[in-house]
Amino acid sequence: MSTTPRTVRRAAALLVVPVLLAACAPDEPVDAGATVTVYTGRHYGIESVFAAFTADTGIAVRFTTGSDPELRERLLAEGANTPADVVMTADAANIALAAAAGLLAPVESAALRAAIPADLRAADDTWFALSRRLRVVQYATERVATPPSSYAGLGDPVWAGRLCLRPSTHPYTQSLVAALIRNEGRDTARAIVASWVANDPVYINSDTDMLRAVAAGDCDVTLANTYYLGRLRTEDPAFPVAISWPEQDGVGAHVNVSAAGVLAAAPNPGGAVALLEWLATDGQAAFSAANLEYPADPDVAPAEVLIGFGAFTSDTASVRELGALNGAAVDLLAEVGYE
Ligand code: FE2
Repeated sequence: MSTTPRTVRRAAALLVVPVLLAACAPDEPVDAGATVTVYTGRHYGIESVFAAFTADTGIAVRFTTGSDPELRERLLAEGANTPADVVMTADAANIALAAAAGLLAPVESAALRAAIPADLRAADDTWFALSRRLRVVQYATERVATPPSSYAGLGDPVWAGRLCLRPSTHPYTQSLVAALIRNEGRDTARAIVASWVANDPVYINSDTDMLRAVAAGDCDVTLANTYYLGRLRTEDPAFPVAISWPEQDGVGAHVNVSAAGVLAAAPNPGGAVALLEWLATDGQAAFSAANLEYPADPDVAPAEVLIGFGAFTSDTASVRELGALNGAAVDLLAEVGYE
């Protein structure tokens, strides 16, 4: 009968399952073929998310953290001998720079294409955003009645001596300026960033420390990712900082992303694709909520604290271009004396 082979295969599969479970028992060495190795610049809450992936699929995850540029340098140095299967970044430009360096292989996946909007994945399928990180105006609710409603607004002289900003060396700053270059043109973008510098900002290399400085009265307005406020509000619902969604009459608030790609030299590309697909689908809510980021899949609901931040329009259209404009952004920041 034609159904017999299928029945046989099913019976065989049922027999195999206990064997696989035994091989993945705690404290046993894990079969290398069933392990995915991730180099990740995004490190908040990933341990619990990877554990959930392993529980769902039986595929173990090993991971190494570092800054996005450090991990890219390491991958370039390791070349074909890398143990890594997946690189995950905390910034859109850095995943595009990894792709441009030839580190990533295209992934043919209907599940990823269905879950991740086209603006949030590479045109050649070498990388996929897994969450959205909005970098926006945040201000002291106790001292600011009319916060800036645009990125250019931070250059108003009314904010002289009242700004805290992340340094130019940080990818978040570079990607925001890359988006300004794309949306405003190079000359206008330069004038905007120069106007921030003219307001003599305090440079602080931590979004959390910037928000604490705003709360403490050391500055009144900053540019920070929304999840940092989400964390501080979770600790203290009365934390005296709020979001002013910028560019709501124009291109929308600046979108950065956490993103991932499969390495061209991956020893376990099948496991790597399985991890990306899971993070974009079954694991999408947990992955984004673990760091209070907005899901990349717009059909997945964000964490409760983010719903409290209200609705906004956002500039997803720039995300794919932030890597190509990174060099121009770095040059612009240096030209205007942004520290
Ligand atoms: Fe961050």
